[in-house]
Amino acid sequence: MFERMDKGQRDRLRFTFNGAEVTGQSGDTIAAALLAKGHRVFRQTPTTGAPRGPYCMMGSCLECLVVVDGETVQACQTAAQDGLTVTSPPPVKDIP
Ligand code: FES
Repeated sequence: MFERMDKGQRDRLRFTFNGAEVTGQSGDTIAAALLAKGHRVFRQTPTTGAPRGPYCMMGSCLECLVVVDGETVQACQTAAQDGLTVTSPPPVKDIP
């Protein structure tokens, strides 16, 4: 579904997502790099556990939340950088 338009660039960034190595290109957001590598599910909803992934890619929907080096961020608004540790947010089970 998602495919890079410029296929001539080499991947130069390396970071991890839930322990798996991901490569990306200079200028990628975390969401762009993950989508380009086939990652569609970034988190699960806290109430039902439904899979969620980027939708708007412009900072409005909050479907792309991830944790980067301990801080929750919007993956579509955060630049990918070498050496980041990116994880899915932990599910919150105690929401009434
Ligand atoms: S994809 Fe909508 S806020 Fe990131």
